[in-house]
Order: sequence, then structure tokens, then C-alpha cells
Amino acid sequence: MAAEVHFFLRSLGLLLLLGTFWHSSATKQWNVTCLASSECVLPCNFVSDGEGARIMWYTRKAVVSCTRYGNTSFVVGHNSAVDRYKNRTSLYAEHVLEGNATLVLRNVTPRDSGKYFCITIKRLAAEKSGVIVLEVKSPVQEVHMELSDEAVFCRADGIYPEPVLAWSTDPPTDAGLFYNKTKIEQTQLGFYDVESRVQLKVAENISVDFICNVSNAINSRRARFKMEESIHTAPGSEIKIPCSFPAEVDTFDLLWRFRRSEHILSMNVSGLRRRTTVSEDWKIHVMDGRSAWRHLKLPNVVAEHQGTYTCQVRTSQVTYVTQTDVIVTPDSKVPLLIYTILGVLSFLMAASSGVLAFIGCKVRTLLGYQKTHSRERDSTASNQESNKVTVDGART
Ligand SMILES: *[C@@H]1O[C@H](CO)[C@@H](O)[C@H](O)[C@H]1NC(C)=O
Ligand SMILES: *[C@@H]1O[C@H](CO)[C@@H](O)[C@H](O)[C@H]1NC(C)=O
Ligand SMILES: *[C@@H]1O[C@H](CO)[C@@H](O)[C@H](O)[C@H]1NC(C)=O
Repeated sequence: MAAEVHFFLRSLGLLLLLGTFWHSSATKQWNVTCLASSECVLPCNFVSDGEGARIMWYTRKAVVSCTRYGNTSFVVGHNSAVDRYKNRTSLYAEHVLEGNATLVLRNVTPRDSGKYFCITIKRLAAEKSGVIVLEVKSPVQEVHMELSDEAVFCRADGIYPEPVLAWSTDPPTDAGLFYNKTKIEQTQLGFYDVESRVQLKVAENISVDFICNVSNAINSRRARFKMEESIHTAPGSEIKIPCSFPAEVDTFDLLWRFRRSEHILSMNVSGLRRRTTVSEDWKIHVMDGRSAWRHLKLPNVVAEHQGTYTCQVRTSQVTYVTQTDVIVTPDSKVPLLIYTILGVLSFLMAASSGVLAFIGCKVRTLLGYQKTHSRERDSTASNQESNKVTVDGART
């Protein structure tokens, strides 16, 4: 009973202590900014007695972390961290009893932005840190562009704070010419995903490159999209699929893809150093992969090579995307062959009907022949008979 009362009093004391801390407006406050998915360090110092302490980290409404170090027989109970902080926090355990209660928060997202403070409880005293205002930012990391259903799509994900997406063309065109649709969504973790599209043809007979710029308070990145003329080819031919980006770019990561997602070849270029990797399935089809930054050379096209090829060159600021449709149509010799085969077949059919007619004729002739022949034989027979008679008569 006494122990329970003791526990109640301690808990009450702790609550009062927290209440006092929370309402105190004089507490020091400072800002910490972290990049999304990184490890975020939230500093906290306290005066340690070197024996034991219970370290609690709080955000406005939730327990972030609660851990005991050393001899903490003086505190009762334990607060567990709320689910969204579980397995994402740690302290520098070997430094805690030296007075260092710094928290490491991993895989931070914009949702973790907010106010944090730490409370340290020792045998004879408790201490509350100042308030840390955490801000989690996420720069624009990649701008994706592709052509699909006659529209050019631009997309960038995982951004904070909110981005702005803007289109332009090269050469410049009247912006009123395109119809565009931009959609911005915020994920549960607080990131912004942005997507927009414009129609491919700005006007009849005018082909332009599309530029999509995504920016926020931290940075901006853009992608540039070029649709090349389709390549019409026949099986067995050699084709060179172009990849366009400025000649002065000498440090980049290049990726060739087939039908949007299938990797053909990747290349990492840094000045004169070049590393090329051709995926296993494409090794027998790709020739001289080292020149793939100019064009992808397929020396012996087969029907399965028909589809969309994308060359993506990523530099520090811009991603250049070149898309080309390859259409594999059977060579003109093939229809000729088909016609020849059809011709031969019809000839054979015609010929075979001729043969039938011939056979029919022959049969009829044969039957006719047989009739005449039998008649002849009859007459011969009668002749023979008459001869016989004659002979007989002669004999006789
Ligand atoms: C706490 O310890 C860590 C690890 O040694 C160190 O990086 C950090 O600066 C220390 N923090 C404080 C507030 O002393
Ligand atoms: C922990 O501290 C208590 C006093 O609060 C003391 O009685 C006990 O012996 C200590 N235990 C250890 C292992 O030092
Ligand atoms: C795209 O749409 C927005 C809003 O509807 C508009 O303000 C903008 O001028 C349009 N054009 C371009 C090129 O972004």
C-alpha cells in the first residue's frame, strides 16, 4: 500500500514537473534543420551526478524516447515511445552519464517537424532542456519526364516544402498553346508529390523540346524532354538510336531503357573516366556500349526490338530525356515472298485443276477408247469369225 502511495506521489510530482516545464515561456528555443531520410541530431545536456538518470524525449504531445542509464532505482515506471518513433531513436549510451542526452532520430520525414525537448531525472533533481524546433526539408531530387498517350508527363516526388512546377519549351512557344494540368499531393509523411502534363504537339509541324522545372525553397531541378522521329526498320538491319544532351556536359549518369522500365545499359561518366554496364539480356543485342552516350547501336534488329527507347542523362542540375519509337516492319522482300508463295500456290491450284481436267479427259478418252476398242474387237471377232468361216470355208 505504502509503495503504491509512493508511486502515485512520484507520478503526480512528475506530472506537475512536466506541467511547469511545458507552460514556462522563458525556455530557450533553437532551430535544427535536417534533410529527409537522414539522421537528425537533437542536442541535450544535463548536469549528471554520474550515478544514474532517466532520459525522456518529448514532442508536443507524444513520448519520443524514454531510457534509463545507471542506477535508477529512484524512478518508478517507464513511458514507451509512440509507434511512429519506435526503432528510430537512439542516444549516445556511453556518454549519457557524462551529461550528454543527445538524441539521434533516424529516417526523418516532414511529419517529424515540430518542437522537441528532453527531461532528465536524477536521484535528487530533474532538468528540462530548452525547446528544439526541428524542421525537416527535402530538396527536389529528381524530375522525371516521359511521353505517354500524346502527352508529356513531368513528375517529382518526396519534396518539402511545397514545390512549384513550371513548363517551358525550346524554342520558346506561346504558353497559351498548351493545355496543362498540375496536381500536387501531400503524402502521409508530409512530402509533396507533384505531377503535370502538356500535350506533345504544340502546333502542327512544330517540334520543340519540353522543359519542366520543379523548385522549392531549398533548390530547383529541371528535366528536358526531346521526342525524336520514329525509326522505321526491318529485321536484320542496324539502327542507331540517338541520345541528345549538350556536348559540354562531361559528368553525368546515363541510363538507356526499353519500354519505359526495362534497363538496357547504364553508364557513369566523370570527365575521362567512363564505366558502362549492359544488362544481361541486352548484351548480345547492343554493339559498342561505350558509345551509348551518343547513340545506342543495335546491329541486328529483331521484331522484339519494337518499342520505345529512352535515354536519360542526369547531371547535377538537369536531366535530359530523349525518347524514340522504333518500329520494326518486315522488309519489302517479305511481301514479295508472300506474293510469290501465293502466286505459286494459285498456279499449283490452277495447274492441279488443269491436271484434273486432263485426267477427266483422259478417263473419258480411255472409256471411249475402250468402247471403240470393244467394238473393234467385236468386228474383229466377227471378221475373225468370217475369216474363220472363210478359212474354214477355205479349209473346207
Ligand atoms: C554527445 O555525444 C556525441 C557523441 O560523442 C557528440 O557527437 C555530441 O556532440 C555530444 N553532444 C553534446 C551536446 O555534448
Ligand atoms: C542504487 O541506489 C540505491 C539508492 O537509491 C542504493 O541503495 C543501491 O545500492 C544502488 N544500487 C547499486 C547497484 O549501486
Ligand atoms: C498551366 O496551368 C496553369 C494553371 O492552370 C497556368 O497558370 C499556366 O499559365 C499554364 N501554362 C504553363 C505553361 O505552365
